[in-house]
Amino acid sequence: MESMISVKGLTKAYASGFQALRNIDLDIHRGEIFALLGPNGAGKTTLINIICGIVRPTAGIILADGHDVVRDFRAARSRIGLVPQELSTDMFEKVRATVSFSRGLFGQPPDAARIEQVLRAVSLWDQRDAKIMTLSSGMKRRVMIAKALAHDPDILFLDEPTAGVDVELRRDMWAMVRGLRASGVTIILTTHYIEEAEEMADRVGVISKGEIILVEEKATLMRKLGKKQLRIQLLTPLSAIPTALARYPLELGGNGCELVYTFDTQGEGSGIAGLLRQLNDAGIGFRDLHSSESSLEDIFVSLVSARA
Ligand SMILES: Nc1ncnc2c1ncn2[C@@H]1O[C@H](COP(=O)(O)OP(=O)(O)OP(=O)(O)O)[C@@H](O)[C@H]1O
Ligand SMILES: [Mg+2]
Repeated sequence: MESMISVKGLTKAYASGFQALRNIDLDIHRGEIFALLGPNGAGKTTLINIICGIVRPTAGIILADGHDVVRDFRAARSRIGLVPQELSTDMFEKVRATVSFSRGLFGQPPDAARIEQVLRAVSLWDQRDAKIMTLSSGMKRRVMIAKALAHDPDILFLDEPTAGVDVELRRDMWAMVRGLRASGVTIILTTHYIEEAEEMADRVGVISKGEIILVEEKATLMRKLGKKQLRIQLLTPLSAIPTALARYPLELGGNGCELVYTFDTQGEGSGIAGLLRQLNDAGIGFRDLHSSESSLEDIFVSLVSARA
């Protein structure tokens, strides 16, 4: 797979001496949506700011589309659009003017048609002449995205794009980001909403205390670490798990009225038929069955807590 961003041996110690990133190796593939997940203070923004050339690395080599982000800053930065975590823009400025201005900052010639395209892509064309201060916060975020896209970058960083955005707007935003990917933009987003990574990402990276602890295809991750649970509602409560069922990983719940069977999603359906037969043989009747699958959130919580 071709690398759009390549990070090797990246370490960052802030002036305070605080070690924010430790020996990070990471490759982002051309055309993917990569979600970087991690708790507050894990180092997500630091990593993004270093790749964007805003913060200097202490050690390591970072290439963006083949350009060294430190030595060849201008070339690297021109490939990158960044929507920072903290919104900052001139509130008195009008939407279209501010987006056009951003394009100019990267030395691109004015291009009214392109600016229109970008504003339409983020559903802000109708607001093109509105002052930014008059927009809702979801719209302001989209202005930031339009600004980041104004110079036609191939790589887009979205640092917490939907923090504080309501569910409906978040869905709009996801659709928009997917549209950008379809147009060939490589997207890296950070998020606290695991639902967002689950919904959007092709691959997921988990960062904790300045270290990347896992990078995986989302589907593989869910398959590898996902668990399924089968909840069996019993007709008569049990006081203990019968010895005949001892070889199954079962737990008794609901005051003895429920048997909970946990298994890996890898061995899809493994053992259920046998378990139900055993229940029957042991004369344990049940009235209902429910199955559930762990979400990326469950996986994430167990990954991060396992290392705490
Ligand atoms: N300029 C700075 N000087 C010193 N320490 C800093 C600086 N910027 C960030 N840090 C520290 O580096 C660590 C990582 O911060 P960073 O902002 O990268 O985390 P994050 O994963 O983006 O968190 P959040 O989810 O809250 O946005 C934190 O402990 C933070 O306090
Ligand atoms: Mg951050």
